[in-house]
Amino acid sequence: MMGEIKTIGVVGSGQMGSGIAQLGAVHGLDVWLLDTDPGALSRATKSISASIHRMVSKGHLSQAAGTDALGRLKCTSNLEELSTADFVIEAIVESEDVKKKLFVQLDKITKRSAILASNTSSISITRLASAVSRPLQVIGMHFMNPPPIMKLVEIIRGADTSDETYNETKALAERLGKIVICSQDYAGFIVNRILMPMINEAFFTLYTGVATKEDIDTGMKLGTNHPMGPLQLADFIGLDVCLSIMKVLHAGLGDGKYAPCPLLVQYVDAGRLGRKRGIGVYNYSKVPETVKKPSPRL
Ligand SMILES: NC(=O)c1ccc[n+]([C@@H]2O[C@H](COP(=O)([O-])OP(=O)(O)OC[C@H]3O[C@@H](n4cnc5c(N)ncnc54)[C@H](O)[C@@H]3O)[C@@H](O)[C@H]2O)c1
Repeated sequence: MMGEIKTIGVVGSGQMGSGIAQLGAVHGLDVWLLDTDPGALSRATKSISASIHRMVSKGHLSQAAGTDALGRLKCTSNLEELSTADFVIEAIVESEDVKKKLFVQLDKITKRSAILASNTSSISITRLASAVSRPLQVIGMHFMNPPPIMKLVEIIRGADTSDETYNETKALAERLGKIVICSQDYAGFIVNRILMPMINEAFFTLYTGVATKEDIDTGMKLGTNHPMGPLQLADFIGLDVCLSIMKVLHAGLGDGKYAPCPLLVQYVDAGRLGRKRGIGVYNYSKVPETVKKPSPRL
């Protein structure tokens, strides 16, 4: 269907989009990085250029390759620029409505042959595909955070994703230096389907007073050789993100075992969202904890 991928479009220049754009530019692709917020684009440009300079100074990339990579990256707020893209990766806000609207626009603007991929953590690829006239060319391409560092890309096949689209996407991920796994399109895909219930269970373990947060984390760290405990990991990911993925698992798979732990819900209600807020399960600031913790623990 399509020739070699030369130009990619990355929509959304936040945490994930900026990392994906950097990967593309470093691996020899022309990249259009698009965001509706010009502030986000300038933050992304700064962080990509700092990161590429770091790679050069550490000897991971030659000076010339670094300069080339930066030269291949172009930023825009005008969706029309994506008409030259062979492949588009969407990494905007995690909202089905907003993503569907974007996919409808991309469907109109991009080449007929272009593949439309989403970096969504939890939204159905099949439902996104149903919004466009090319459902065979819609696929999930789930990078892990931060994209330049993490080795894995989880590829999600929607109900109608063609073999050709899957093969092109896998080849692109491998060109970006990633290892690919393939998931069918059911809530949570592979990684979050297994990870989030583990994190939720860690909250239940804390909530029901089985152990302290420190012992839960030390237990899983040293007992199962995880690099960090599940509660620490939840603080890294963001408790709001964990909760919303648990809700997607619960709604999508319809089993009570996916019901979010009340303590996780309460922390999110209280604004204890994890590291990004300075407080989650753990307190990262010097400010005293304001939320009274429910009884049996501690
Ligand atoms: N952060 C993670 O750890 C992580 C990991 C894997 C996947 N994801 C997924 O990646 C996506 C992006 O997450 P993030 O953490 O980078 O978010 P982010 O908030 O850092 O960035 C999102 C960017 O999208 C822009 N945006 C919003 N609506 C837009 C639109 N209609 N058109 C163009 N730009 C728009 C925003 O201005 C913002 O700059 C989400 O779907 C998320 O679920 C996130």
